[in-house]
Amino acid sequence: MSPPDPQLDGQGNLKHFLTIEGLSRELLIEILDRAEGFLGVAQQAVKKVPLCRGKVIANLFFESSTRTRTTFELAAKRLSADVLNLNVSTSATAKGETLLDTLRNLEAMHVDMFVVRHASSGAAHFIASHAAPHVSIINAGDGRHAHPTQAMLDMFTIRRHKGRFRELRVAIVGDILHSRVARSQILALKTLGVAEVRVIAPRTLLPARVEEAFGVRAFHDLAEGVRDVEVVIMLRLQHERMNSALLPSEHEYFQLFGLTEERLAGAHPDAIVMHPGPINRGVEMDSQVADGSRSVILEQVSNGIAVRMAVMSMCIGTQNLLSAAMPLARHWQGVGAPVPGQSDG
Ligand code: CP
Repeated sequence: MSPPDPQLDGQGNLKHFLTIEGLSRELLIEILDRAEGFLGVAQQAVKKVPLCRGKVIANLFFESSTRTRTTFELAAKRLSADVLNLNVSTSATAKGETLLDTLRNLEAMHVDMFVVRHASSGAAHFIASHAAPHVSIINAGDGRHAHPTQAMLDMFTIRRHKGRFRELRVAIVGDILHSRVARSQILALKTLGVAEVRVIAPRTLLPARVEEAFGVRAFHDLAEGVRDVEVVIMLRLQHERMNSALLPSEHEYFQLFGLTEERLAGAHPDAIVMHPGPINRGVEMDSQVADGSRSVILEQVSNGIAVRMAVMSMCIGTQNLLSAAMPLARHWQGVGAPVPGQSDG
């Protein structure tokens, strides 16, 4: 018998959100469906629902962030939680306090949920295994390992544009080797049943035996790799995680792997272009593409709020409050999107 998933409680409900690995397709669809309902909150005069009123959520970011930290904060506030943002550079971490001591002290302030970003792979799992039983941990990115809420907001964006996952061809382009985003995206795409996942990169930026290990097709030529794909996901070069020079120069990288209108021409006519951010214009993509009509990059950011509301409200255990607080059915009718549970996700 396999050990129980540390992310689930005894009833199979989401308790922590640490990685996509081990989660079922049904659970991923539940996150997407719940996020769909939360999209409407941004259109309300009062952009709040009371699902997490009285709860305390702490953002612990030991690495820099623009999108993830702010959208988690907004998501928590839209759920009516009280939010603590620990500024790690001015916290006692700078005086040598350990991660666990920081955790214990914040737990003593009755924090219910920690959102954690850390440079070390496994940091979120480590905290989850030491947290008090009532506390939930959400991984906001750990080393090269996982960035599960980024993957889910990307799946959400894909579903809103494509309406389905099966039969899709998706290409992920760039620094796959160092990317926690790519790992989580590949797991999510495979779990949701996407027909073909391609990775496109120089050999030095692909993990060993990537095709067997991840169940993807590898390409080393951008134009060939994007041919006929419906979704192109660009990734940033993760210089901060590179231990040696894996590329001759950024200029040369752009010449071979930078996305331009010309190279995108071979993709499916309705292909969308995505990027988790931050973008390095002129390195992984041309500004014309980043700001062009196929780009859904800023939509990804907006969608991140709804997806993070969904994940946080599920982990904090609000199932019994949801129907009273959320006009889900009304919203779904309004957007003309597939009815939850009746689409292929
Ligand atoms: N996508 C992402 O994680 O961006 P930030 O580093 O700005 O949070």
